[in-house]
Amino acid sequence: MFDPSAYGDGLASVYDRLYPHTPEADQAARFIAGHAPGGRLLELGVGTGRLALPLAELGMRVHGVDASAQILAKLKERDPEGKITTTLGDFTADLPEGPFDIVLIGLNTLFMVPDRDKQIETLRLMGSRLGEGGVAIVETYDPWYYHRLTEPRVDVHHIGEKEIMIDTSYVSRSTQTVYIVHTTIDGGIPEKIVEISRYAWPSELDLMARIAGLRLRARYSDWEGGPVRDDALRHISIFEVDNGGE
Ligand SMILES: C[S@@+](CC[C@H](N)C(=O)[O-])C[C@H]1O[C@@H](n2cnc3c(N)ncnc32)[C@H](O)[C@@H]1O
Repeated sequence: MFDPSAYGDGLASVYDRLYPHTPEADQAARFIAGHAPGGRLLELGVGTGRLALPLAELGMRVHGVDASAQILAKLKERDPEGKITTTLGDFTADLPEGPFDIVLIGLNTLFMVPDRDKQIETLRLMGSRLGEGGVAIVETYDPWYYHRLTEPRVDVHHIGEKEIMIDTSYVSRSTQTVYIVHTTIDGGIPEKIVEISRYAWPSELDLMARIAGLRLRARYSDWEGGPVRDDALRHISIFEVDNGGE
């Protein structure tokens, strides 16, 4: 049985060292906020606020949903004034009512939803919470990075003076799924968390979005609005509600 809180609860203590605050997060926030300055924003899988905090700094009214109580506790430490409203829950099942001007799912989090139909349902829910003229923003990696792997891939991250994380990625091409075993080694008993990433190509994402009642408005390869070329490693897709008009 898939547990959406497992990833966040397992990685909460190291998450900010794995994905530290970088200038790119500020750039991403400026890009996202540019779609509805000062507006209402809902983030699915808000995490520890890597994007949500700079978005709130820019004046956005941010509501974040996350399935992990431990991740939300970390966010609370970084946001003592409570600028970000949070909801503990599974975003594939329900979302705050809204309406919102932007509904965001960043950092490949849509792919953490482990099957296609649930991904479609997540996109449908995102669209249902958009107000007039609102947009859904979806950040995903290009599947090429994993889909070409014929052997397990091992990456080592140094996350502290005496701590490393070993990521071992196993790809199932037939199900478009990568299983990433995150092993943290800090001198104690190694801890393992398995992340499941069910990936989709941009064309499939557009088809899933269409089934979910959305249509692509624009797609970029980075948070500066760069064009998508054949070697793009990432896609930032902007969807709007497809109401049948032009
Ligand atoms: C890769 S992290 C991204 C966090 C943050 N958006 C960022 O950019 O740093 C994914 C987050 O989504 C949460 N998550 C994954 N699946 C979820 C689900 N079905 N419902 C709610 N939260 C989920 C995890 O707990 C984690 O905090």
